[in-house]
Amino acid sequence: MTVAPTQQALYADIDLDLSWSERDLPERERTKHVHRLHPYLGKFIPQLVEVLLGRYFAPRQHVLDPFAGSGTTLVQALESGLDATGADIAAFNVLLMQVKTRPYNLFTLEHELRDVCARMEAFGGTAPRSASRYVRDWYAPAAASELLHFRSLIPDYEHADVLRIVLARAARSARRTTHFDLDFPREPQIAPYWCHKHKRECRPVERAEHFLRRYALDTLARVKAFAQVRARGREARVHHDDVRELAWGGPFDGIITSPPYPGLIDYHEQHRYAYELLGLDDRRGDELGRAERGTSRVAMAEYVDGIVAALANARPFLRRSAPVVIVVNDRRDLYPEILERVGLRVEDRYRRHVNRRTGRRAGEFYEDVLVARS
Ligand SMILES: C[S@@+](CC[C@H](N)C(=O)[O-])C[C@H]1O[C@@H](n2cnc3c(N)ncnc32)[C@H](O)[C@@H]1O
Repeated sequence: MTVAPTQQALYADIDLDLSWSERDLPERERTKHVHRLHPYLGKFIPQLVEVLLGRYFAPRQHVLDPFAGSGTTLVQALESGLDATGADIAAFNVLLMQVKTRPYNLFTLEHELRDVCARMEAFGGTAPRSASRYVRDWYAPAAASELLHFRSLIPDYEHADVLRIVLARAARSARRTTHFDLDFPREPQIAPYWCHKHKRECRPVERAEHFLRRYALDTLARVKAFAQVRARGREARVHHDDVRELAWGGPFDGIITSPPYPGLIDYHEQHRYAYELLGLDDRRGDELGRAERGTSRVAMAEYVDGIVAALANARPFLRRSAPVVIVVNDRRDLYPEILERVGLRVEDRYRRHVNRRTGRRAGEFYEDVLVARS
């Protein structure tokens, strides 16, 4: 009788070149320049993309990321001298990617960001007149009026999208929530509370103005730092679409992507404040594997069909034998079947050690890197 090898045996080797300890790669390196224009749960670390681009691609080639999220692949491609195309179904992610990857006139950008900060400083604060239910529930009155005033200034500027990201980041920090539950707070925290993160009593935030100013200046510094390292003449293109149907164009020299995984993260919901404040198009119904759908048999089959459709839709736009690199913690071992159904041949499987470090989700886990060829 032949015994099927366990997943553990299949992935016997941890690829040390793809695994970093906290000491090798501290937080500030993982969130260098534009990678931290806004927090995003479920992004991969830029250094992993950098190594994968070096292993499977050459400068001046064109890499595709069909599930581009916060744009890590695109940003790193520009740094490593490649062109990049990405897409996402979540409008906020698309906005974030566009802001990260656009070329800027830094002089104008600095002028505008400093100008908006000065106008915020001059703002006396008035009670917001037409705040939505969400804003009334999640923000203290002063914070709400500062956020809404900032929003009213945005159309005055050429770099309105950069200001939208600053507003979203400040809106995230200024919510009436506990410090330890910034990712998915369930309900507003109105009273002081015992804070697990700071081990003392903390109070919900009252103001937003200091966040707006701090993030405006931080954004400026980060965009400037990225301008120093991005390769000249290389471009990133970003699509807002369902990648099961998108007509990509191409041709592309390969894929690097980390797809959503069933039952883990709701990508629209994690940036709810941004959808509420910026009035972005909500397409969560098309989001593959969203946690809300659960992990029932039906939901899993739907997920697998969805990823197969997404990869099959991208495949005709790839050059012959192009590498398809998938980074995923595939604990249900779904991807060998997915890749086979798409007609991709798995060439390598690595396992990398992920050193998690944030808040209550601290702990260790592993991620798979599957390399297939078209
Ligand atoms: C794991 S995240 C990618 C993170 C990315 N690697 C990064 O570093 O930021 C998966 C992304 O797939 C997107 N997504 C889910 N369903 C989609 C669909 N049908 N079409 C396009 N994108 C989709 C989600 O919105 C999410 O941003």
